Amino acid sequence: CYTPGEYAYFKDEFEIVVVIDVLRATSAICAAFDNGIASIIPVPTVEEAWEYKQKGFLAGAERKGQIVEGFDFGNSPFSYMKEEFKGQEVVLTTTNGTKSLDVAKDAEIVVVGSFLNLNHLNQWLAKQDKNILCLCSGWQDKFNLEDTICAGAICDHLINTGNFTSVEDSSIAAKYLYLSAKDNYLGFLKSSSHRRRLKNLNLNEDIKYCLTPNQTNVIPILRNGKLVNISEN
Ligand code: MLT
Repeated sequence: CYTPGEYAYFKDEFEIVVVIDVLRATSAICAAFDNGIASIIPVPTVEEAWEYKQKGFLAGAERKGQIVEGFDFGNSPFSYMKEEFKGQEVVLTTTNGTKSLDVAKDAEIVVVGSFLNLNHLNQWLAKQDKNILCLCSGWQDKFNLEDTICAGAICDHLINTGNFTSVEDSSIAAKYLYLSAKDNYLGFLKSSSHRRRLKNLNLNEDIKYCLTPNQTNVIPILRNGKLVNISEN
C-alpha cells in the first residue's frame, strides 16, 4: 500500500500492518525505543499533541520537516538520544507517519518498520503466520521512494522465505525497486523529494542515519493507542 489513502482498499485482507515512514517518523520511533523510551502516543493532529503538552506530557510535533512552534522537539531520531527521554512516555505528531498509524490503528497488529529495525522486524514478521500489509506513509498521500524501497526490502525477505505465496503486484514492484536501491540507498534517493526537502533544512545527518539499516532490534507495536517495544533483545 503506497499511501495511507489506499489503505481502505487493502485493510480487510491483512491482519498485520507494518507502518513505514523512513524519513523520518518511524525511524525516529525506532531510535527512541532503542534509547530507552517507555512508550509513544502517536496523534494525527498538532492540536491533540498540544492538548497533551498542556497536561504536562513530553510532546513533539513536526510539520513539513520542521519542529512546530511551541514544541521542544519534532521527529529527528537524534532528539530522542538524550538522557531525559529514558523511561518516559512521549506524545508525537508528524506530517505523514502518525497519520498512517492513525489510519491503521484498528488492525489486529500494527507494527513500526524502518531500515533501522529491518532484519529484526523481518525475522519477527516471518514467524507470525498472518497476512502482512506494508503501509507506506508517502508524502501527503503521494507515493515516495524511501518508504517503498523499505517495504520492498520486507517483501523481498518474506517472499524469499517461501511461506508467502499470494503476493500483491504492488509488493512485487516494491521488491524490484528495493533490489535496484539496496547497494546504495543514499545515492538511489539522491533526487527524491523528501531527501531534497530535508537536505534544504540541513538535516543530512538525519537522512544518513535513517538510511543505515539494522542499527536497532526494536519491535514497536501499537497497543491501546500507545506504541511499546515488544522486542526482548
Ligand atoms: C512525516 O511524518 O511526514 C515525516 O517524518 C516528516 C519528517 O521528515 O519530519
